[in-house]
Amino acid sequence: MPTSSLNIPPEKLPRHVAMIMDGNGRWALSRGLPRLAGHKAGTENLRRVIRSTVEFGVKYLTIYAFSTENWGRPLEEVRGLMSILEDVLDKELAELHAEGVQLRHIGRLERLSPKLQKKVLEAIELTKNNDRLVLNVAFNYGGRDEIVHAIQKIIRDGIPAEQVTDELVSQYLYTAGVPDPDLIIRTSGELRVSNFLIWQAAYSEWYVTPTYWPDFDQEEYRRALEAFAQRDRRFGKVSSKEFEASNA
Ligand code: FPP
Repeated sequence: MPTSSLNIPPEKLPRHVAMIMDGNGRWALSRGLPRLAGHKAGTENLRRVIRSTVEFGVKYLTIYAFSTENWGRPLEEVRGLMSILEDVLDKELAELHAEGVQLRHIGRLERLSPKLQKKVLEAIELTKNNDRLVLNVAFNYGGRDEIVHAIQKIIRDGIPAEQVTDELVSQYLYTAGVPDPDLIIRTSGELRVSNFLIWQAAYSEWYVTPTYWPDFDQEEYRRALEAFAQRDRRFGKVSSKEFEASNA
């Protein structure tokens, strides 16, 4: 039976965890299965990870499900990922809603089929007042694309240059109103950012594990949160102890 107890004081728990769910393809390959079988196993794991996130008391979770670059994958895989999103909305939405999960989308909806766009918008509408967990689904998302989109909108809104501040740009991103991620977890060992939350991750802590996404279980999630709790976050400054000592 999984235990959800965490050995972390509440103030050391990240408010927002973001995840790059990498390694589905290699997980499948290592079992002689097609890549889509890896994405299906990854989806099963996502369900477990969402449940653990609620149990751990983390308030915001962002998952990288489909990047603006993923359109370059074989058509069969692209179609498979679209149909996984549709399946999740058809089969999991009621339970997510009942668990108090608020669904949000970050990225561009335009390139998705009208039917899928409609389902995404309906899911957002249905769950908009839930407050146990905010789940941002990055789908057709790219960090550079997000910044370009924000700049275009700022210009269209006629904002004068001197009013363009750090805070203003943040309000024009898809993640407006969501705190920056405190912790970003990347599975399957790759040491790169992959165009994920490149603005928001300015001071995020990273946790990279060699485990492939379908095998990233609650125990490892707990280890990631415990590792995060040990980090000394300085945000470009010095630690508060050093600061006090230097001013004593
Ligand atoms: C990266 O693994 C994973 C993806 C591009 C897709 C992630 C999608 C899921 C986990 C399914 C959940 C999706 C939705 C829509 C809710 P990879 O294929 O790049 O793995 P590899 O690097 O081993 O080839």
